[in-house]
Amino acid sequence: MSGETEAVNAKMEDLKVGETSQASEQNNAAEDGDKEDVVDPWTVATSSSKGIDYDKLIVRFGSTKIDDALLERFEKITGHKPHHFLRRGIFFSQRDLHLILTRYEAKKPFFLYTGSRGPSSTSMHVGHLIPFIFTKWLQDVFDVPLVIQLTDDEKFLWKDLKAEEANKLAYENAKDIIALGFDVNKTFIFSDMNYIASCPEFYRNMLKVQKCVTYNQVKGIFGFGDSDCIGKISFPAVQASPSFSNSFPAIFGTKKDIPCLIPCAIDQDPYFRMTRDVAPRLGYPKPALIHSTFFPALQGAQTKMSASDPNSSIFLTDTPKQIKTKINKYAFSGGGTSVEEHREKGGNCDVDIAYQYLTFFLEDDDRLAEFKEEYSSGRMLTGEIKKELITILQKMVAEIQERRKTVTSDLLKEFMTPRKLNCQS
Ligand code: TYM
Repeated sequence: MSGETEAVNAKMEDLKVGETSQASEQNNAAEDGDKEDVVDPWTVATSSSKGIDYDKLIVRFGSTKIDDALLERFEKITGHKPHHFLRRGIFFSQRDLHLILTRYEAKKPFFLYTGSRGPSSTSMHVGHLIPFIFTKWLQDVFDVPLVIQLTDDEKFLWKDLKAEEANKLAYENAKDIIALGFDVNKTFIFSDMNYIASCPEFYRNMLKVQKCVTYNQVKGIFGFGDSDCIGKISFPAVQASPSFSNSFPAIFGTKKDIPCLIPCAIDQDPYFRMTRDVAPRLGYPKPALIHSTFFPALQGAQTKMSASDPNSSIFLTDTPKQIKTKINKYAFSGGGTSVEEHREKGGNCDVDIAYQYLTFFLEDDDRLAEFKEEYSSGRMLTGEIKKELITILQKMVAEIQERRKTVTSDLLKEFMTPRKLNCQS
């Protein structure tokens, strides 16, 4: 055995005791005993009408719950009241967030990294907005560089699409994202197909990750099978690489020690468990993470909102009328079967989709508490709570549509050009 092979094998052994194997073992244990919840980058499903059991998921994935002490520290250090996504447990889990806060306190640099594969046809759905709305807020709070990866390569590999089409859709996706209000001076958005071809530093990091992870490991983490194309098998290295600051020489020069914080829904965690296992062996800091729950499908919390089922989702291209019809027709109700029954027994907010959606998009805590009280007691009817939600969603989607119209090709080009970003740190 050559020295190099030995070294690589030794690294493989390291990986077995890291976060990835811990999570895989816990996944296997879960498979043996508890078959209910499936959460991976492709499937989110549970048989419980209340949705995924996120406490169990934290234990299975080996992440840490965001507790009151962490939120207090966040507020103390940043001077900002935690976003309602944090206050309401929508962003509920993290890895190493306290290290990022310590860096912020010490005025040491870090950056934000998030991404999207985007839908393969129409526009993003409102579920996709959750990590982006939160990332924008973090960008405002921390004033640090943000990189957004558009995985047109992932879309091409997983969907029945031509490469050119997937690449074109990434640009449409970028416009949706820009319309959420990101600051062009602080944000770099890139399509994998374009950026990787132009950046040797990024490609080198991909190769380094590829060399550290075996087929067996990637099979264990992502469940790939013998008939999956080799593009899928090597893709996790592409999603891992933006975690490392030297993948962006235009922003960070040759610095390789600047860590990132990744906001995403928890379905993306497998990619970053793998990244965190590999990072120290490449001499890079581990990415920190902050995970959200899933914005549920209209039909109920058993599954997440998904672009592949148009009737499960509200899209950013929907008209006010479509939004109203979808909510009235499809949003699962936790109300009684008749007005009389509802008045008598009240509605069940735990399963009611209109109420669940309001927890994401109604910022006013007092009004939300009032709706909960009124609906649970039966004083507020299903039609009435749906009406409140429809108004909020129609306004939010219309505003995004208006801002999207202002995204010119020049602005798009600016966001997507590798360049120095203008942040405090
Ligand atoms: P994608 O396109 O599936 O999703 C983009 C982001 O949206 C989150 N998400 C949701 N969040 C809440 N509720 C939902 N119903 C919902 N559906 C999707 C995803 O977790 C993700 O944060 N492989 C990735 C693209 C990617 C990426 C990243 C994502 C590349 N690098 C870094 C996050 C962070 C993907 O397919 O995302």
